[in-house]
Amino acid sequence: MKTIVDFARAKAAGNPICMLTAYDALTARIAVDAGVDALLVGDSVAMVVHGHDSTIQADMAMVTLHTRAVRRGAPEAFIVADMPFLSHRVGAAAALRDARDLMRAGANAVKLEGLAGHEDVVERIVGSGIPVMGHLGLTPQSVHQLGGHRLQARSAADAERLGRDARRLQELGAFALVLECVPESVAGSVTDALTIPTIGIGAGARTSGQILVVTDLLGMDSGFRPRFARQYLDGATAAREAIAAYVADVRGCRFPAGSEVLA
Ligand code: KIV
Repeated sequence: MKTIVDFARAKAAGNPICMLTAYDALTARIAVDAGVDALLVGDSVAMVVHGHDSTIQADMAMVTLHTRAVRRGAPEAFIVADMPFLSHRVGAAAALRDARDLMRAGANAVKLEGLAGHEDVVERIVGSGIPVMGHLGLTPQSVHQLGGHRLQARSAADAERLGRDARRLQELGAFALVLECVPESVAGSVTDALTIPTIGIGAGARTSGQILVVTDLLGMDSGFRPRFARQYLDGATAAREAIAAYVADVRGCRFPAGSEVLA
């Protein structure tokens, strides 16, 4: 995908949109070569790369640094960058500056969690020519308010509120919407009610597309295997075994071999 128009076209044509997070240049290159439609420099970078226990620790310096790296690795990709914790809650002027810096770092669009209390910010960012992706359902920046990483919109009232927020985001000009950890029936109804595409994670099969955290897909964390995230590789075991083989070769004086010695 090159622009937000391609997102709209994909939904209209019923073509599933495939997104993946990326935080570094090499992974971004591999993901694009593998055919993903768009990359997200998620604030999950704080957990996945920097070892924090929540996305609250992500800040502008962190997200812009990784956005630059992803852009260098994938010059032609459509890249969405996350507005980090509270960056869109401290006033429209500050939010616009942060959105500007993410775009200058190489993003094509920014993603904002939630809606209540910052409708004006969404409107200002969109009105300034910066594409906005919404994010409803489980919004990890509010993990303490939500009482943990758990399924959202389970009651009829919560599902109704989510549907209202989704329609409002569309009215405000969002070009797409991430739905995280909501029942499939809720995600399906929201998707059917919108013209913009929905991108699901833990939201079932009725969204317009899917997104996964790349390290979940690659199985890089053997201690974290969410049920909704299909693991395509046991990357932790593969990496550990490869490194253990290297250690054994060095200790056993089998590395470097003659062919690996520079003349
Ligand atoms: O930060 C992130 O990785 C995300 C995805 C879970 C959608 O927001």
